[in-house]
Amino acid sequence: MNGQAADLREMALAVLQTPDPRAKAAAARAVCRSLADGDRSWPSPWPAAGPAENPARPERPQRVPPGKTPRRRLGSLEGRIALLHAIAHIEFNAIDLAFDMAVRFGADPALDEAKRLDFLSDWIHVGDDEARHFGLIADRLEALGSAYGELPAHDGLWDAARTTRHDLAARLAIAPLVLEARGLDVTPGMIDRLNSAGDTISAGILKIIYTDEIGHVATGMRWFKHVCNIAGDAPEARYHSLVQQYYQGGLKPPFNTDARDQACFPADYYLPLAATGAPLA
Ligand SMILES: [Fe+2]
Ligand SMILES: [Fe+2]
Repeated sequence: MNGQAADLREMALAVLQTPDPRAKAAAARAVCRSLADGDRSWPSPWPAAGPAENPARPERPQRVPPGKTPRRRLGSLEGRIALLHAIAHIEFNAIDLAFDMAVRFGADPALDEAKRLDFLSDWIHVGDDEARHFGLIADRLEALGSAYGELPAHDGLWDAARTTRHDLAARLAIAPLVLEARGLDVTPGMIDRLNSAGDTISAGILKIIYTDEIGHVATGMRWFKHVCNIAGDAPEARYHSLVQQYYQGGLKPPFNTDARDQACFPADYYLPLAATGAPLA
């Protein structure tokens, strides 16, 4: 990266504009290091132009519709590779989701100057975690004889978040508080299945990711409540209406209430939205 003249926002924007997965992850980690070192600052005033609607993407993995990705029976090496590849793709998207949060919403009117710096720091740290997660899984795939990009993947995660690009409360409701929270529900089962299949190394990596993701949901919750407070909205009711608007079909139970509780994400938010097969509203 040409870091010489870049401020932190330009560095964060460059993460979104980097197509190569390893280079994107390295750029993400460099932003967090720069933030910690204090060698660059955020721009003031914040530039009016936001990031592109979609971040840069590599040629591989090949994109396929959801449901057309490889099956994941974990008794076989192929099954474990398919699962890890799907997780690598989630972490790859999660890097962009975190940096898009910072660059797109860094000047949101709900943030005064002090809150803005906290908000940016929080999402850069989330993005740094996602880049580290991506690296762990990509390395594991390579140790198992595969690599990120070798299997097809779908863009459902990014597509679910993209529809909220005009509304910080909606982005927070959907990205950390639906999509990342869903990760908390399903990851313990994956860890158990990997351990049962004898792949304790992959299981250990997922345990690291799981622990970090509780923090990401907590970060999402903190900012969602802040944005609602500034707007004078009751956060539970606002969450219900935003999820019904932007995430059709309801939330899939069962929920990992222990992990969600650890993230300070109370059941009042999500239980009323549990998918029942009937329309929500
Ligand atoms: Fe992650
Ligand atoms: Fe995350």
